Amino acid sequence: MGVMDIIRARRTIRFYEQRAIPVNDLRELVEAARLAPSGGNVQPLEYVVVHDEEVVSQTFPTLAWAGNVAPRRNPPEGKRPVAYVIVLINREVRSSGGEHDAAAAIENLLLAAWEKGIGGCWIGSVDRDEVRRILGIPDHRHIDSVVSLGYPAEQPVAEDTSESVAYYLDDGDTLHIPKRRLADILHENRYGTAARGG
Ligand SMILES: Cc1cc2nc3c(=O)[nH]c(=O)nc-3n(C[C@H](O)[C@H](O)[C@H](O)COP(=O)(O)O)c2cc1C
Repeated sequence: MGVMDIIRARRTIRFYEQRAIPVNDLRELVEAARLAPSGGNVQPLEYVVVHDEEVVSQTFPTLAWAGNVAPRRNPPEGKRPVAYVIVLINREVRSSGGEHDAAAAIENLLLAAWEKGIGGCWIGSVDRDEVRRILGIPDHRHIDSVVSLGYPAEQPVAEDTSESVAYYLDDGDTLHIPKRRLADILHENRYGTAARGG
């Protein structure tokens, strides 16, 4: 699979098979994150990989899932994440900002995961105080995001749209992810000039 194939195929996964991800694979996902672009190459990010069953289950209630279709994509028992990567911004390295770095790193991580058959969900709705307490994260580490991970137990589909971008579940419980059409968002050379051909 080339990069573009992985980019096209990747979808956010919120339901997971209950089998462990090899720890070396989890470490390799952080390796993919580590190598992402960084503003000024300052590299303020740190990562906590959570794979211990007890810590995984303690982390679960700190997260909010798929507001648009809630509660139908809250993972029930038997479909919950088997691991997490918590992405931190070290405020001793970068006193403000760093969120762009985190975003680039997380996307790298999600694409590397997909290549290994692992699905993930980038989660911004996090009870950060609770995560800090559970994982013992020190004060000068900002909790940017949590990425939940596991082998997919759902198959969401993306579809182009010029209408609503609200994701939805169909009658068969498949999650549909509308994506804005390229022709609606691409300008060439000057704003307002539609792309042609190709
Ligand atoms: C910054 C950011 C925050 C997100 N936060 C959450 C979240 O808190 N809970 C959740 O279930 N999904 C969250 N998502 C996942 C999005 O809902 C998902 O990426 C979007 O619906 C598009 O689906 P796709 O990733 O399959 O293309 C977040 C995504 C991003 C980029």
